[in-house]
Amino acid sequence: MAADWDTSAVTERMPDVMLTTVRTYKMRNGRVTASQQLALDAMAADLDVAGMTWSQLLHRADGRDVVLDIGFGFGESVLHYAAAEPDRFIVGVEVHRPGVGALCRDAGALELPNIGVVIGDARQWLTDVVPDSALAGIRLFFPDPWPKKRHHKRRFIRGPVLNLLASKCAPSAFLHIATDISDYAHDAREELSQSGSWQLCEGMSHRRERPVTKFEQRAIRDHRPVFDLLATRV
Ligand SMILES: C[S@@+](CC[C@H](N)C(=O)[O-])C[C@H]1O[C@@H](n2cnc3c(N)ncnc32)[C@H](O)[C@@H]1O
Repeated sequence: MAADWDTSAVTERMPDVMLTTVRTYKMRNGRVTASQQLALDAMAADLDVAGMTWSQLLHRADGRDVVLDIGFGFGESVLHYAAAEPDRFIVGVEVHRPGVGALCRDAGALELPNIGVVIGDARQWLTDVVPDSALAGIRLFFPDPWPKKRHHKRRFIRGPVLNLLASKCAPSAFLHIATDISDYAHDAREELSQSGSWQLCEGMSHRRERPVTKFEQRAIRDHRPVFDLLATRV
């Protein structure tokens, strides 16, 4: 299983922007529990799509549209949407192994046929594996906030990454972002309006469908409002 990929080849191919070299996630020492490790060990056969080519992944998806959940944390949203949207194949991408273990454990119990998992940096996997115009949608819930100004370059949602996401999405595909950090929401909205590849949708209909994740629970506890941004690929 590829966990920490060498980014040098990609950087050569994509000179613009430090697209995949700037770390967007926090280094966490969370322990993988015994049940998560068991699930990780069993995952290769059942859920792991990281080593697949795109056509192998489509074969696994069995005709379903592919939707990405980037930075799924402990996987609540992946499980929720896989159950709610049986006609879609939900690929969760996450760097944090205990979270991947938790998702694999819970997915194993539910026996859902439409989940794939990638351990690694979503930008790298998108660049290396996903063809242009291949995705039906992308979800990005509560990306790491990086609140200090000097760390804003680590925020996942930046112009170059939005361009990368747009290039991998089919026309009319959706991008759903949720964050409890108001200046992040504001900046993301600006980036989306300026990108030319995304059309922002007004209204919050998708908000109601979104499950409350562990990170949203913290926002609710601390009385931080949550901002949902929905855009479609032009
Ligand atoms: C604040 S958590 C939110 C988790 C989940 N979406 C939720 O709502 O509970 C952000 C997650 O994004 C992951 N992440 C950050 N950058 C990433 C990247 N480039 N590729 C994949 N995962 C990433 C982090 O490891 C972290 O688990």
